[in-house]
Amino acid sequence: MKKEKFYVTTPIYYVTAHPHLGSLYSTLIADVVARWNKLRGKKTFFLTGTDEHGQKIVQAAQKAGKEPKEFVDSLIPSYQNVWRMYGIAYDYFVRTTDPDHIKGVQQFISRLIKKGDLYKSLYKGWYCTPCETFVTEKEREVPQKPGQEGPACPTCGRSTSFVSEETYFFKLSAYQDKLLKLYKNNPDFIVPSERINEVVSFVESGLKDLSLSRTTVKWGVPFPDDPKHVVYVWADALCNYITAIGYGNLAKEKEFNSWWPADLHVVGKDIVRFHAVYWPALLMAADLPLPKQLLVHGWIQINKKKMSKSFGNVVDPIELQKLYGVEPVRYYLMRQIPVNQDGEFSTGDLERRIESDLANDLGNLLNRMVSLAEKNNVRNVIPPDVWAQQALDLRDEAWKMIEDFESYMNDCMFHLALARLWKFINNVNAYFHEQEPWKLAKEDQVRFMQVLSATCHSLRIIGVLAWPVMPNKMEELLGSLGITFKPEDNTLVQLELGSWHQTFTLKRVPVLFEKPDNLSSVYY
Ligand code: MSP
Repeated sequence: MKKEKFYVTTPIYYVTAHPHLGSLYSTLIADVVARWNKLRGKKTFFLTGTDEHGQKIVQAAQKAGKEPKEFVDSLIPSYQNVWRMYGIAYDYFVRTTDPDHIKGVQQFISRLIKKGDLYKSLYKGWYCTPCETFVTEKEREVPQKPGQEGPACPTCGRSTSFVSEETYFFKLSAYQDKLLKLYKNNPDFIVPSERINEVVSFVESGLKDLSLSRTTVKWGVPFPDDPKHVVYVWADALCNYITAIGYGNLAKEKEFNSWWPADLHVVGKDIVRFHAVYWPALLMAADLPLPKQLLVHGWIQINKKKMSKSFGNVVDPIELQKLYGVEPVRYYLMRQIPVNQDGEFSTGDLERRIESDLANDLGNLLNRMVSLAEKNNVRNVIPPDVWAQQALDLRDEAWKMIEDFESYMNDCMFHLALARLWKFINNVNAYFHEQEPWKLAKEDQVRFMQVLSATCHSLRIIGVLAWPVMPNKMEELLGSLGITFKPEDNTLVQLELGSWHQTFTLKRVPVLFEKPDNLSSVYY
């Protein structure tokens, strides 16, 4: 049977500095989604990359005393290293300075020209370089702050600068009704759904045509047939989602058609408008199918302020990994911070999660079960012919939990999925404790084996479901049950149907999660 496909993307990052925990967050979400869809039996493609053109990059390069290309080249390994360190299993890393991407963008723009959706005129208005965005008439009402050159940017609050130049406008205004129809007919286009309201009211308030080229910026994709202009950096960047899978390259047409449209674009709440308004309108103009869904996440904050290089409050994922390890950080980010809200970063919370959820609830359960079996010379845990009622109850609870977990994960509510999984882990702990298998080992070998078996079956489910969030640790856990994990062998369908009749060959593994020493003073 042909596998269904799932194509997921991250925003591409401005390479003005090394990646921080906020950048890791977007990327991690996409990684978890990709892995989850592998478990669902889908063929996945996971794209990430870097946004390397525009004024913002030019300014950062100037500050570093480098040419833009030399500057961005020097930072790329840093992104790739952090992603590798954190187990981010992307399929392709796109750079907007790649020749293939540039060709694809030019092809896309040519198509809009041919369609008659671009026209040349004069742009006069305010521009925010940190956000690389034109400030609309309405937004200009945001008051200017003392000492600022122009009105404050409505998104980041920094000063905008006045721009007056010839530009190619995209007839965005012509797409207003089509966009409203898109939101109306696809209530799931944006998750969480409450985010759609701000998009609808922005579009309803009237769309102005969008400036799609710059002449005062040189660092960008040259406009086809008019190289005095470079493509507006956001139009250039958005095209990464199609150029990376072959748009604009005849030899890759089949590949492109097999992946596009994207099933999910993961984006932070600061860049919703670009993805929910401009991108669909541009795609409509180019007669391309629209992405199926946007997942909009909140910000990681410190003292209620977005973690960001320019606020000087960034946490370095490499340092964090040295203190806590990669997978506990992955777990913390997905469990602690509701994806639909902003979340305060706190090492105290991180340490509590490691100690309580990972070391005590999960790590100890595995360790207690394997040690007890070992102490009683049990290596192969054989399932019973008939299960006792308590084990059947646990099995029913497992099946119910799988259903809930699936539904939360499919809705991208990772924190709820993990909370539900941990409720089950606590049930398994309670079952293990109540059964007192250390006594049964001496009194009733059959019951003893049954408790071990029910615990192993439960741990197998836990290991598979938590794999998208903690792939290496869960592979170790499953390895300890004698299972060599391959996502394609452990699809959810098999978990759901797999009744409890497996034999497990136990193997001791090093302690899964170390409790942190008193470290919370190191950060915030
Ligand atoms: N280059 C554009 C995206 C173009 S996509 C076609 C851009 N880059 S960015 O580097 O500024 O941000 C990339 C992503 O990182 C955004 O989704 C943004 O929300 C996310 N984050 C940056 N700081 C963040 C936090 N402190 N917390 C969570 N996500 C954060 O925008």
